[in-house]
Amino acid sequence: MTIRITRRDFAAALAGGFLVSSKATAQTETPLLTRAIPGSGERIPVVGLGTAAVFDEDDETTRRKADAVVQALVKNGGRLIDTASTYGDAESVLGKVIATAGLRDKVFIATKLESPDTEELKRSLTRLKTEGITSTFRGDYPAVEAVLKREKPDFVQIDYSLDNRGAEKSILPLAAEVRAGVLTAVPYGNGRLFRAVRGKELPDWARGFANSWGQFFLKYLLADPRVTAVIPGTADAGHMADNAADAGHMADNAGAMRGPLPDPDQRRRMIEFVETL
Ligand SMILES: NC(=O)c1ccc[n+]([C@@H]2O[C@H](COP(=O)([O-])OP(=O)(O)OC[C@H]3O[C@@H](n4cnc5c(N)ncnc54)[C@H](OP(=O)(O)O)[C@@H]3O)[C@@H](O)[C@H]2O)c1
Repeated sequence: MTIRITRRDFAAALAGGFLVSSKATAQTETPLLTRAIPGSGERIPVVGLGTAAVFDEDDETTRRKADAVVQALVKNGGRLIDTASTYGDAESVLGKVIATAGLRDKVFIATKLESPDTEELKRSLTRLKTEGITSTFRGDYPAVEAVLKREKPDFVQIDYSLDNRGAEKSILPLAAEVRAGVLTAVPYGNGRLFRAVRGKELPDWARGFANSWGQFFLKYLLADPRVTAVIPGTADAGHMADNAADAGHMADNAGAMRGPLPDPDQRRRMIEFVETL
């Protein structure tokens, strides 16, 4: 599945307050890694929050969890939240949490409509307590390529992880050519990468750019400048901090959103490493 926001839609969304920009609230002294959205030039922090299957029920427990995760995102300098009208009650939960916490001007929300029509759009906007337009598209790489060529959207969202690198062949080069930002869905293979390294120590050669497995996996993706942002899913505020930039640690490589990225040799080594798992 990809998200598609056309330039016109993006402008309308901005005007409607749907994709809201603000300065990130950096809590440490190491600069945040940000990337420009090619179509608008606006810079966004490179680690966001994915919300598939984590905020499905609009109840007190879920709202409390979502509040902690969104606060951890913002506290650590992040802004991007990816959701969809089909992610259970996630839109309602996020809409309430963001409004209650007064974080509307601190976050940049991207939602996806499964079968865009006026009614679905209205429901999404009501749930998110905001206004604006996005659209969605489902398909395999050739279909995504066709849409990229035809629509030249502002963003494409594609599955891309250290152990699922198919997007590197055609989608990343094409996105760069048509100046579409790239959001990488499922950056941990839906948790598959963590399961593969369970019980293993982070290799010494990776310690210069990563403090945790999460940062190791995300920084492989972020080392490609064609990637605009990664959107790991989590319902855990501690994991959100680990993914973004742990304000509790002052080391240069605290969090995937700060510090050095792996160079091409280190990236090759990361692939070799993951292929031995
Ligand atoms: N466009 C599409 O087709 C599409 C499809 C699927 C998803 N998406 C988007 O992409 C987002 C990411 O995909 P995903 O959520 O399915 O999978 P994912 O991000 O690849 O992996 C999520 C899993 O990783 C765990 N995790 C996250 N951060 C961690 C950390 N720092 N340390 C240890 N474990 C960690 C989560 O558990 P905890 O909750 O315990 O942290 C969860 O089990 C989705 O949420 C959604 O927004 C898009």
